[in-house]
Amino acid sequence: MASSILVTRRPPGTALDILSSAGSIDLWEPDEIMLRVELVRRVAEADAVYCMLTDHIDSELLDAAPRLRVVSNMAVGLDNIDLEACTSRGIAVGHTPGVLTEATADLAMALLLGAARRIGEGIDYVRAGSWGEFRLDLLLGQEVHSSTIGVVGMGRIGAAVARRAAGFGMSILYSGPSRKPAIEQELGAQHHRLDDLLRLADHVVITAPLTPETHHLISEDALRLMKPTATLTNVARGPLVDTAALVDALQNRLIASAALDVTDPEPLSSDHPLLSLPNCIVIPHLGSATLKTRAAMADLAARNVVLGLRGKPMEACANPEVYG
Ligand code: DGY
Repeated sequence: MASSILVTRRPPGTALDILSSAGSIDLWEPDEIMLRVELVRRVAEADAVYCMLTDHIDSELLDAAPRLRVVSNMAVGLDNIDLEACTSRGIAVGHTPGVLTEATADLAMALLLGAARRIGEGIDYVRAGSWGEFRLDLLLGQEVHSSTIGVVGMGRIGAAVARRAAGFGMSILYSGPSRKPAIEQELGAQHHRLDDLLRLADHVVITAPLTPETHHLISEDALRLMKPTATLTNVARGPLVDTAALVDALQNRLIASAALDVTDPEPLSSDHPLLSLPNCIVIPHLGSATLKTRAAMADLAARNVVLGLRGKPMEACANPEVYG
């Protein structure tokens, strides 16, 4: 019997062609997040699921999927997937590291610069018709060049951000569970405990994965350690930051500004307090949102399905132990 591949959102580029070489496709056609009830119903017949970061692949879903052998996330982050539950059932989980690293690092720098140089406030000011004569004291921001960046989570994306920061003449600090000798040697980056990094950095950029250990890593206490002139950029996952504490820190100028590609919750309602703060830039989870990167992610996730269904190691597998 041909394999059945459940696809929870129409992917860009050639991904569907790639997938069709490995089985028949059951595509959720509406251009919106697949309804959970439909996902649970349709996964019953699936050998593989090609899913998005908005689909929760948990034990309840896996219990409804007796045939499932492959889960392929069209994202690098895996916080929407119960990896342990997949592994214990022998289900291989694919994801998309590497192909989105540079696009996400580009966006992190754009946000860091935007927060430091008050770009959002500048745009609002001009659009509001407030632009009058040149003023020496208008929207003065923080220096980026020659300042100190603190990268929270020195994985692929963190390292790509650090390389860009080096181009701006920034000193590089990083935190995370393990030292990264290669990046220390390449960029002179220094490993610090998170507390010290927060005290020392002028610009903090979060690129760590969301896990139970990193949930609310940037807490009220953490924000209090930061310099009042510091900026906070998050391109990882919203729940790494305690949102209520961040609102408070921005309102009370405990830090200068924040720039968020990801929030908790996501999406934010239009009346969310974060959106009323002049010193906070929020954009809608666009880290990997370039035409080329999204196509590369879609194709990689599709190739992961094909290989997984053929019982071969995926190009990017999060639980290679399932291959034994
Ligand atoms: C990911 O891949 O995890 C990003 O957040 C979305 O591109």
